[in-house]
Amino acid sequence: MTHIVAEPCIKCKNTDCAEVCPVNAFREGKNMLVIDPKICIDCRLCVDECPVKAIYPDEELPEEWWEYVEINARYAKLWPEISQKKEPLPTSEQFAAIKNKKEYFDPEPGP
Ligand code: F3S
Repeated sequence: MTHIVAEPCIKCKNTDCAEVCPVNAFREGKNMLVIDPKICIDCRLCVDECPVKAIYPDEELPEEWWEYVEINARYAKLWPEISQKKEPLPTSEQFAAIKNKKEYFDPEPGP
């Protein structure tokens, strides 16, 4: 088991989640974070921190976002660690309510 950062994170990247992770499992892309499934200990602390409800235990991940299991695993190996909160992206408020944001996913590493 692990937790997954799903599509609502894209272009928001609020980063409240990274600050509470006790094992530093978050990795930073240009416009979203992912969780390293090899490090996550399923503590759930990050789930309630996310203002856009982007994080799910893998067994509760809505089917429409199943592809993010692979996206988290793949980019966790490529993106740098993030363990501190920082300013959300300037697009955070605007994109919080937008559905179907996959087209905006940026594979480049953050910050
Ligand atoms: Fe993204 Fe939510 Fe964390 S928007 S960076 S999963 S607090």
